[in-house]
Amino acid sequence: MDNGDDAAKAASSLNSGFAMPDVATLQRMANEFYQAMPGTQAPDFSGAIPQNTVPKQPAMPQTAAMPAEVGDVPGMQDFGLTTAPHFTLPQVPGFDVPDFTQASAMNADAPFYFLGGLGMPAMPKMPTAVPKTDNVAVKDKAPAANPPILNSKFTMPPVQDLSLDDFTRPPAGTGDAGLYFMDEAFRAAGVSLETRKAANKGGDELREAFKQAREDVDPKKQDGGVPKLNLPLAPFDVEAVRRDFPILNQRVHGKRLVWLDNGATSQKPQSVIDRISRFYETENSNIHRAAHTLAGRATDAYEAAREKTRKFLNARSAKEIVFVRGATEAINLVAKSWGRQRVGKDDEIVVTHLEHHANIVPWQMLCQAVGAKLKVAPVDDRGQVILSAYEQLMGPRTKLVAFTQVSNALGTVTPAAQMVEIAHRFGAKVLIDGAQSIQHMRTDVQALDCDWYVFSGHKVFAPTGIGVLFGKQEVLEAAPPWQGGGNMIADVTFDRTIYQPAPGRFEAGTGSIADAVGLGAAIDYLDSIGMENIARYEHELMDYLLKGLRTLPIRILGNPEERAGVVSFVSSSMRSEDIGVALDKDGIAVRAGHHCAQPILRRFGVESSVRPSIALYNTCEDIDALIASLRRILNIR
Ligand code: ALA
Repeated sequence: MDNGDDAAKAASSLNSGFAMPDVATLQRMANEFYQAMPGTQAPDFSGAIPQNTVPKQPAMPQTAAMPAEVGDVPGMQDFGLTTAPHFTLPQVPGFDVPDFTQASAMNADAPFYFLGGLGMPAMPKMPTAVPKTDNVAVKDKAPAANPPILNSKFTMPPVQDLSLDDFTRPPAGTGDAGLYFMDEAFRAAGVSLETRKAANKGGDELREAFKQAREDVDPKKQDGGVPKLNLPLAPFDVEAVRRDFPILNQRVHGKRLVWLDNGATSQKPQSVIDRISRFYETENSNIHRAAHTLAGRATDAYEAAREKTRKFLNARSAKEIVFVRGATEAINLVAKSWGRQRVGKDDEIVVTHLEHHANIVPWQMLCQAVGAKLKVAPVDDRGQVILSAYEQLMGPRTKLVAFTQVSNALGTVTPAAQMVEIAHRFGAKVLIDGAQSIQHMRTDVQALDCDWYVFSGHKVFAPTGIGVLFGKQEVLEAAPPWQGGGNMIADVTFDRTIYQPAPGRFEAGTGSIADAVGLGAAIDYLDSIGMENIARYEHELMDYLLKGLRTLPIRILGNPEERAGVVSFVSSSMRSEDIGVALDKDGIAVRAGHHCAQPILRRFGVESSVRPSIALYNTCEDIDALIASLRRILNIR
C-alpha cells in the first residue's frame, strides 16, 4: 500500500494545477499568517488539515467531493489521482459545462480509469448531446493568441468499429476530454462499469475486458444511444502551467528568464519540489530493509513511484521497471549485463547517425571488449534515418539495435515502432533511447514493442539522479546483474550468491529513493495535464518557433518530417557559443555547443550549434523574446 502518498495526494488534489502548495505547506503558511496578525488567536492548524479548509477553486473538482482517504473510494488507489486538471471543459455556446463543484453532478456509474489523468474521484455528468460547433482552425495563429482551445472535430465511431487502443486511449489529439467521451460512448452502448474499469488493467486482463466490452454492446443502445460528438479539444492553459514552476518567475541579468534549454534539463513543478520535501520531512528511511514504520512508508512511496512509471510507460508489470541514475546509466547497464553475456566476437550492434554519445560510447566499449562491430544507419539531409539503409545493415549477426526516439541535436522523431519491427525480423533485440521523447509525447512500450526503453527523470520534470530502464520481463530475467551489493540478493554465502529477480537484481545498494518518489510526483503532474494535450500544445509552439527562426539569416540543421522539442541552427557570422552567451545577457537560456552528439553535427558539417528546446511551460512570448534577441545579436533591422 502507498498510504502516505495516496492519502496526501487525495488531500492535496488541487495542488499543482493551480500552483497550490501541498497540505504541509498550507499548514505552515496558515500558522505563519495567523502568528503574524497582532492580537489574533491562532486557530490550531497543527493537526492534519480538515478537507474543507483547503481553499476552493471555481469550477474544479472540490475537496468536498474528495474522499477523506483514498480507500474511501473503491478502486481509487489504482489510479494516479493526484492533481486537478489544468483545463476546464470548453466554453462552447450551448454546451452545458458540468458543474464539477457539486457532488450531485457526479455520475455514480462512472469508472475512474478514464479519469486517471484528470485526477477526479468520480465522473461528472455530461450532456448527452453536444451541439455542432463551427470551430475555427487556429493553425496559422500563435497558440498564445488563441488559448486555450485548439479546436478540431471528432466524431465518435460505432463501438463495434473501435479497436483495443480506442478502449484505453483518447482519440489522437483529444486528450483527457477524449477519454471521457470514449468512456461515455462505451457506457451509452451498454458496456458495464466493471468491464470499463478493467480497461485500466494491462495485458491479458485488458484484452479480455475489451472482448467483453464488444460482447456487452447492445445493438439497440448502440443505434440510439451513442451521441455522435463534435468534440472541441481540451484546452491547455499554459499560464496555469507556468505558475506551477517557481524557477520561471525570476530575472536573469535584469530580464525575464526565458528557459529554452529543456533538452539539457527541465524545470521542476512545485508539486515535485514539495513531494521531495515531504519525503524528507515525514518518510525518510532506507527501503526494503527494516520492520519499522518509516521503512514501510519509504518503501511504499518508492514502489508507488515504480507503479506510476509502469503506468506512464504502459509496461505490463512493475517488475519491468528498474530505477537507475539516468538514461546513460540505463544504457550502460544493458551493455554491461545483457550485452556482455549475449554479444560475442564478430556479432554486430546497429545504432543510427543521430545518437547521443550516451548511445554510442557504451556500445563501442562493448564492441572493444568482446570483438563485435558497431554499424551506423545513415540519415538523409533532412536528418531522417534512411530506413532502407537501416534495414540493409541488419543480418544474422545483428544482436542488438539501439536508437533514439527523438534526436537531441536535430529534434527528428524516428519511426520507432517500424524500426523495432525491422530489427525484430532479424532476431535482434532493440533499445530505445527515450531521453528526448518521454517529455513530449505519450510513450507506450507495448505498442513500440521495444526490448528496453530508457529515460532520465530530470528531463521529465523530476529530480536529477533518477532514471528508468524499462526491460521486457523475460529479457531482464535472462540477464545477469551488473553491480553486486546489498538489496539485489536473495541469499549470500562465501561460496555463492543467489540474486533477486528483476528489478531488484539490478538495483544494488541504496538508490535515489527520494528522487524516485519525486519522479512519481512528476508523472502525476504530467498525467494531470495529459500527454496528448502537451504534445498538441508543443507542436503548435514548435511551428511558431520554426516560423520565427526562418525569418533570420541562419541555417537550421535538418528539416525532419516529424520534430519534437528541439531545433538547432548555426550562423555564418557568429560562433554558436558567442550567440549562447549573448542570449544569456537577455535572460534567454539555450544550449550552444556539440550537444554530446558530435557525429550528427559533423554529418551536417558543423562542430557546434545553437539549440533552443521547448517544454510545456514555454510560451509564444518566450519565442518572441528569442527571435527579437537574435535579431539584435545578428544585427538585423
Ligand atoms: N543530453 C542532454 C542534452 O542533449 C544533456 O543537452
